[in-house]
Amino acid sequence: MQIVSVSSLKGGVGKSSVTLGLASAALADGVPTLVVDLDPHADATTGLGVHATSELNVGRVLARRSKPGAIRAVAVSSPWVTRETGDGGKRRLDVAPGSSASSPLDRSTYRAADLSRLVRALEGMAADYELVLIDCPPNLNALTRMAWAASTKVLSVAEPSLFSVAGTQRTMTAIAHFERDSPRAVGSAGVVVNRVHPDAREHRFRVDELNELFGPLLVAPVIPENQVWQRAQGSAWPIHRWPGADAEDLADRYTQILRGLLATGAPAEEHASAGE
Ligand SMILES: Nc1ncnc2c1ncn2[C@@H]1O[C@H](COP(=O)(O)OP(=O)(O)OP(=O)(O)O)[C@@H](O)[C@H]1O
Ligand SMILES: [Mg+2]
Repeated sequence: MQIVSVSSLKGGVGKSSVTLGLASAALADGVPTLVVDLDPHADATTGLGVHATSELNVGRVLARRSKPGAIRAVAVSSPWVTRETGDGGKRRLDVAPGSSASSPLDRSTYRAADLSRLVRALEGMAADYELVLIDCPPNLNALTRMAWAASTKVLSVAEPSLFSVAGTQRTMTAIAHFERDSPRAVGSAGVVVNRVHPDAREHRFRVDELNELFGPLLVAPVIPENQVWQRAQGSAWPIHRWPGADAEDLADRYTQILRGLLATGAPAEEHASAGE
C-alpha cells in the first residue's frame, strides 16, 4: 500500500487539486483508494462530494491514540464511484472526511508519540486499499507531521513562480530535517509542478529552475493552468469524467503521474519541462 502525502508550506498552490486529480486517476484505473483529508478547511472532502459529520470526521480518530485500522470507522464512499461506473460496481474510493474538528490538533508543539497516531490508524489496511492519499494543511504543524510520519512518499506541490520555488525549497528542507530528527523516515519525496502556462516565459524559466534545483525529484508531466479544473471541482466531479479535450488532457497527465507513483514507489525519473 502506497501512502502519499500531498503537502506544501505555501497555501493555495494546488495541494487539494493534486489530491483530487490523483484520486480521479486512481478511480479510473480501478485502484482501491482512501483519501485522508487532514486540512480542517476540508476542500478535498468537498471536492469528493462528501460532508463530514460530528461522528464521521478524521479529527475524531486522531484526537487520541488510536487502535490499528481505526480510520475504517470514519471512511465513507465518495459519490464519484457512482459517477465513474454508473452503479458503484466494485471500484473503491473512500474518504476520511476533514472538518474543523481537526483544527485543535494542528498545534505547533506536540509530543513525538502523537506523530504515530495516523500511522496506527492506517495499520492493517493493505487488504482494503492499494493507495492512501493525504491532503495536508499549508503549514508544518502536528497534522502535516502526522501525515509525513505515515507516508511512503511526500509530494510537494509547486507553482512556477519565485515565491513558490522558495516555498518548495523550504518544504524539501523541512522534509530532510524531519527525516533526520524523527524516528519515522519518509520513504521518498517528489515535486509536482502545477498551474503551468507553457507559453509564459516566466513559467518556462521557473520550471527550468525547479529542474535544476530538484532534478530527478521533479514528477512528470507538469499540470497546466486550466479553468476546467475549477468547473469540475465546483461540481464535485472527477476530472476523468468531465467532458472536453482540456479535461481529457488534465486527466491523462494525472493518470501518468499516478502510474509513475504506483509503478516505482519513487518519483518519476523523467525530468519535467514546461512544454510537456
Ligand atoms: N491547474 C490548475 N488550473 C486552474 N486552477 C487551478 C489549478 N490548480 C488549482 N487550481 C485552483 O486554484 C485554487 C487553489 O487550489 P487548491 O485549493 O487545490 O490549493 P491548496 O494548495 O490545496 O490550497 P490551501 O493551501 O488553501 O489548502 C482552487 O480554486 C483550484 O481550483
Ligand atoms: Mg487545500
